[in-house]
Amino acid sequence: MTPYRLRAAALALALGGLGLACDSEEAFPNIDELDQLRSLHTQTRTPPKDGTNRVDGVERAAKLGDLLFHDEKLSRCGTVSCQSCHGGEGRTVDTPTAEGCGGQRTVRNPPTVLNVAYNRWFMWDGRADRLWNQAVLPLTNPVEMNSDATVVAARLGAPEYRTEYQALFGKFPEEEAGPTLLTNVGKVLAAYERTLVRIDAPFDEDVKRFIAAAEAGKAEDDPAYLGLKTFVRKGQCVVCHKGPALSDDLFHNIGVKDSSAGAGGQWAALESLLDWEFNAASPYSDAPSGTDAGRLKTLRTQAKQEEMEGAFRTPSLRNVALTAPYMHNGEQATLEDVVDFYNKGGDPAGSFTGRRTDTIVKLDLSDEEKQALVALLKSMTGVVR
Ligand code: HEC
Ligand code: HEC
Repeated sequence: MTPYRLRAAALALALGGLGLACDSEEAFPNIDELDQLRSLHTQTRTPPKDGTNRVDGVERAAKLGDLLFHDEKLSRCGTVSCQSCHGGEGRTVDTPTAEGCGGQRTVRNPPTVLNVAYNRWFMWDGRADRLWNQAVLPLTNPVEMNSDATVVAARLGAPEYRTEYQALFGKFPEEEAGPTLLTNVGKVLAAYERTLVRIDAPFDEDVKRFIAAAEAGKAEDDPAYLGLKTFVRKGQCVVCHKGPALSDDLFHNIGVKDSSAGAGGQWAALESLLDWEFNAASPYSDAPSGTDAGRLKTLRTQAKQEEMEGAFRTPSLRNVALTAPYMHNGEQATLEDVVDFYNKGGDPAGSFTGRRTDTIVKLDLSDEEKQALVALLKSMTGVVR
């Protein structure tokens, strides 16, 4: 961007942040909004390769990972697999929380694992920094699979797993140290999850067509006009739900009701990530001094309580129609409810921790705008390839 464009964009952002509707007379989309729209529909085909996982992208690993993802015997109770909470079309559950070993409930709503390998951070609070180390958390979480290295080693000793494991990692499961075994199982699961790609939605075609219409001076005639205008301008959704994944992959406090122990969001999870024996800078990473480890250093030096307290990761909106209920607490049952949530400027002050970001304000959407926004969200469902 030229300095002038940069200033114009900063100004637009500042005005937007204050919720001033001073540009509401201006024709939609203006030049900056057109750029924002252009950024939405160009998804990189395959997820970026994870240098910290030596079996990422290896077909044999993905196949083993598929079997393990569906294997209930990896849990101590013998009845819960990854698939138990990440199944169905939306690869999640249709209740606010999910059931783990012994009928226990998770604290939060399970995010989908569709397109998860495009993410930079994992979990609502970002307490995992790589897809493979994330997998260790549900495996060992007492309310989820309640497992450990001993249970996992016993299961991996099965003939159908044992030789595959050895072919990938050079040792048999029973020869491996516990933490190495757990993280290698995580790497195999991640190799499988990388294949769960569902992009290419009607939304992408609509945005392309709308851009062409806008360039021809006919934006208002396009059926996607009101939905996109509300998403980009009045609703400010694109401030956070941007780029091809419809997420900035950052954390924001948008004011979602929460009185659980994890209500502090990213701030509450920060220490455990930085000190975690399995993070991207740990000896279990296959690139412990690579860029992913570097990100942790940056996080450590730049962490600000004021910004991180009560902040949760912006979820991708791709396939969002398949993953109800919504938000980290699962409190919004439908997309209509989500739009109402934003329309009233989030949950009431005092019902969540920290300070709500300035971008979230009352929106005063008309019924037409609300409906157009919901239709837009529904158009983000990708086709199965
Ligand atoms: C009992 C239900 C349950 C089981 C079993 C379970 N998960 Fe999850 N999963 C969740 C919940 C709840 C979250 C969100 C937790 C949080 O953010 O605090 C989650 C988060 C995730 C995420 C992060 C997604 C994102 O966008 O950040 C991934 C990836 C994932 N699980 C994969 C797995 C894998 C792999 C397994 C098996 C080893 C598994 N899950 C087992 C409930 C479950
Ligand atoms: C300031 C950044 C920001 C803005 C602006 C924003 N969102 Fe979000 N969005 C988030 C975050 C963060 C979450 C998760 C919050 C949580 O669960 O605590 C979220 C959650 C959602 C979800 C739930 C997805 C799921 O899988 O549970 C939907 C749908 C959604 N936003 C749509 C919108 C729409 C529509 C707008 C505009 C009216 C909008 N967002 C504006 C950051 C933002």
